[in-house]
Amino acid sequence: MADELTFRSAEDSDWLAMGLVAATGFGVERPDETNAVWRSMTPADGAVVACDGDDVVGVAVFYDLTLTVPGGAVLPMAGVSWVAVAPTHRRRGALSGMFAELHRRMAAYPVAGLEASEAAIYGRFGYGPATVWESLELDRAQARFHPEVPDPGGVRVVRPTDHRAQLEDIYERWRLQTPGGLRTPTRLWDEILADRESSRQGGTPFYCLLHPDGFAMYRVRGDDEHKDVSITKFAAVTPLAEIALWRVLAGLDLKKTVSIDTHPRNLLQYLLTDPRLVRTVNVGDGLWLRMLDIPAVLQARTYASDLAVVLDISDPVLDGGGRFALDIREGRARCAPTEKPADVQASLSVLGSLYLGAHRASSFAAAHRLTGDPSAIRALDDAFASDVPAELGFPF
Ligand SMILES: CC(C)(COP(=O)(O)OP(=O)(O)OC[C@H]1O[C@@H](n2cnc3c(N)ncnc32)[C@H](O)[C@@H]1OP(=O)(O)O)[C@@H](O)C(=O)NCCC(=O)NCCS
Repeated sequence: MADELTFRSAEDSDWLAMGLVAATGFGVERPDETNAVWRSMTPADGAVVACDGDDVVGVAVFYDLTLTVPGGAVLPMAGVSWVAVAPTHRRRGALSGMFAELHRRMAAYPVAGLEASEAAIYGRFGYGPATVWESLELDRAQARFHPEVPDPGGVRVVRPTDHRAQLEDIYERWRLQTPGGLRTPTRLWDEILADRESSRQGGTPFYCLLHPDGFAMYRVRGDDEHKDVSITKFAAVTPLAEIALWRVLAGLDLKKTVSIDTHPRNLLQYLLTDPRLVRTVNVGDGLWLRMLDIPAVLQARTYASDLAVVLDISDPVLDGGGRFALDIREGRARCAPTEKPADVQASLSVLGSLYLGAHRASSFAAAHRLTGDPSAIRALDDAFASDVPAELGFPF
């Protein structure tokens, strides 16, 4: 049945039909202005469609993004998004055909990333979950800070649009020190600060707390019985800024809870005399990574310890694997294809999961998804650890 479908670059005249396929797939109609912002981040040839005759029945695009890796280097990243197939044409190879097309167009990118609507779809294409979201909820009213925790102050209540330059500057500093951080283009800041009704999901317009080294943007949701402070954007460049912001957030009278999507090593639980007031209400995957140029990507980050290992990486669907010698000395890596025998075998998806330090080689070894010499596996655990927890910069 798949050969009934054809795959090609999207043309200007396709974008209305692509919008309909995407809206039908996700059950959400995005405003034209919002679609235009994301389209402006799509490089020429970065959008493909699947067609049945003249009808567009599938869409997949990638955005031109910039990813921070451990140590602070940044890599061009093809950010795959807006992947949808018409419900009339599911499971006929539309996604596979579009992905084959899309990945052929990524020659300028050493790495591709995406967020997955469902976690069972993208492993086969060499993507692995590389950051972890933890959704925390703080029961605010009883929160008390340990006496040793400072009260740095310096937080102001501001309107975000009046302080755009400071917000941009703080976010920029944060994303350059955070693995998984993404550069935010000007038009995307315009879109965030436009604060459209369609992006509020029943919440209030933005409130904003601003410190010289951090900010928290949030909406209030719920009724008089249970008002929740729902943080949509939080960036703290220093622990003191993070503490200062949490002191104000915990003091928001008349609100019952404060919720945030964050990384698994968030500071909040360590600040409070009763850490059980911070509940983990959900854990999920964030950014998924697929390496397109394995040596370039492995050489871009810094490492926590020395290592010499030959990796055998499989990628059956898109054929990007092979055997690679990885030598790490004093934090820097050299990596090249090799014919030497492998010490460790894993899929490209698993390598993507290890890259930002959010998952450990030994966990995959215990699951039999990474095999090889036990001492090499322990050394991978040590070398790939990241002292700054990985966190996706923004959803795309
Ligand atoms: C997810 C979606 C894009 C899949 O498209 P599709 O054209 O049906 O996928 P394909 O026929 O090319 O399937 C490719 C492979 O992925 C598998 N697959 C597809 N969707 C899957 C899913 N939701 N869960 C698990 N496996 C899935 C197929 O079984 C097939 O496996 P096989 O090669 O072993 O047979 C489509 O169902 C869709 O549009 N869903 C709604 C929107 C959405 O979730 N988009 C993803 C955004 S991240």
